[in-house]
Amino acid sequence: KRTKILDLIASESYVFQQVNVSGWVRTRRGNKHISFIALNDGSTIKNLQIVVDTATFGEEFLKPITTGACINVTGQLVVSEGKGQTVELQASEIEIYGSADVEAYPLQKKGHSLEFLREIAHLRPRTNTFSAVLRIRHAMAFAIHNYFNEKGFFYLHTPIITGSDAEGAGAMFQVTTLDLNNVPKTVDGKVDYENDFFGKSTNLTVSGQLEGELGALALGSIYTFGPTFRAENSNTPRHLAEFWMIEPEVAFSDIQDNMDLAEDFLKSLIRYALEHCADDLEFLNTMWDKELLDRLKFVVENDFVRLPYSEGIDILMKSNEKFDFPVSWGVDLQSEHERYLVEKHFKKPVILTDYPKDIKAFYMKQNDDGKTVRAMDVLFPRIGEIIGGSQREENYDKLLQRITELNIPMKDLWWYLETRKFGTAPHAGFGLGFERLLLFVTGMGNIRDVIPFPRTPKNAEF
Ligand code: 4AD
Ligand code: MG
Repeated sequence: KRTKILDLIASESYVFQQVNVSGWVRTRRGNKHISFIALNDGSTIKNLQIVVDTATFGEEFLKPITTGACINVTGQLVVSEGKGQTVELQASEIEIYGSADVEAYPLQKKGHSLEFLREIAHLRPRTNTFSAVLRIRHAMAFAIHNYFNEKGFFYLHTPIITGSDAEGAGAMFQVTTLDLNNVPKTVDGKVDYENDFFGKSTNLTVSGQLEGELGALALGSIYTFGPTFRAENSNTPRHLAEFWMIEPEVAFSDIQDNMDLAEDFLKSLIRYALEHCADDLEFLNTMWDKELLDRLKFVVENDFVRLPYSEGIDILMKSNEKFDFPVSWGVDLQSEHERYLVEKHFKKPVILTDYPKDIKAFYMKQNDDGKTVRAMDVLFPRIGEIIGGSQREENYDKLLQRITELNIPMKDLWWYLETRKFGTAPHAGFGLGFERLLLFVTGMGNIRDVIPFPRTPKNAEF
């Protein structure tokens, strides 16, 4: 029966026992007498050293055991006298599941660039870096469910195919079964979706928030955690066309409560990573980003700065920094502005609030000044915006007025408005981009490297 390498290394109870392991060969070195195989099974960043008596197995048998091959080994686990490991396995039986031709296998001993690894996304989970990232990704997903479960939030599954545009940004992927070369058109030249699968125009969701609000206004506190899709043509290290978002929504909650929740949530996730992903974080810290662990600890230990957008704009306008995009009251902040505030001015995460209503979505609660809304963006070092959220407009008339001003078709949102008509309540929520969180926690520099199969413009190969 197979034992995972993680367990073999963690517990002394396996020492001097017969054990069986399976895994992929990272390297094999040695001579006529003895051979050392570094074996990895994905359960941990650590390899298990397999000691092989060359004469017993024969050089011919051992030949296909090269980098990338998959083998199963039985033997005795012993205390290692070599450097770099506490235990090693003395092989008595080896089965070769699959060889990997040295000439053809793209992953060799030497380090590969992240750009090259993106081209072989089907094999990159077998590298130390990606296996570490994917284990951390799993741990963070688990910690998110754990966090909300302990706080009494219910996990709400919101639809992936919808008829509405939650953010009103129009960057949507259309879903249709119509033959686009031969679609019936109506009088004014528009496509007639009555013949389409759903009898109306549909798209992949950009956010589960609107349905999330329906849940919160019945269950009190909910969260969503699912894939979201945006057809914005932004080829940046921080944008994906398909990304995962976590969206808590809370009834009887205002923007202050919302900020408290966002800060506590982020800190507790990072704390969880520090406690449960130590080996992987250590590896990433050594390999890619020497300040990673210090940065994570700093964020956990310090209060986030909270300030209104207007004050943020004042700081940016008074700074001597040369920005690519000029700043004035009313502009949407670019990541260079966000990072200036976080990295150079405050040197701490910042929650910016009360943005101009014209650069934010229709559903945000309007302030009395008539110009701003109760929005909050959490800005992080190296990332810029990691969370976007707000208190929601709960007043029926004000919400309807805003929807009308923005020319949003009422036929798409009648059900949303009914929550304000029947038993409306103050409520608030936010969206955390899962991959932005992972960029921060892993220290990776490009969002394509924290998701197994990135979807970006002109890229859906794997
Ligand atoms: O600020 P956004 O657009 O807010 C919403 O979608 C709200 N409905 C959330 C809510 O209040 N429930 O997106 C939220 C977060 C951003 O802060 C960012 O972290 C992430 O989602 N995000 C992206 N991540 C990767 N690629 C993209 N193209 C992203 N767009 C947004
Ligand atoms: Mg946003």
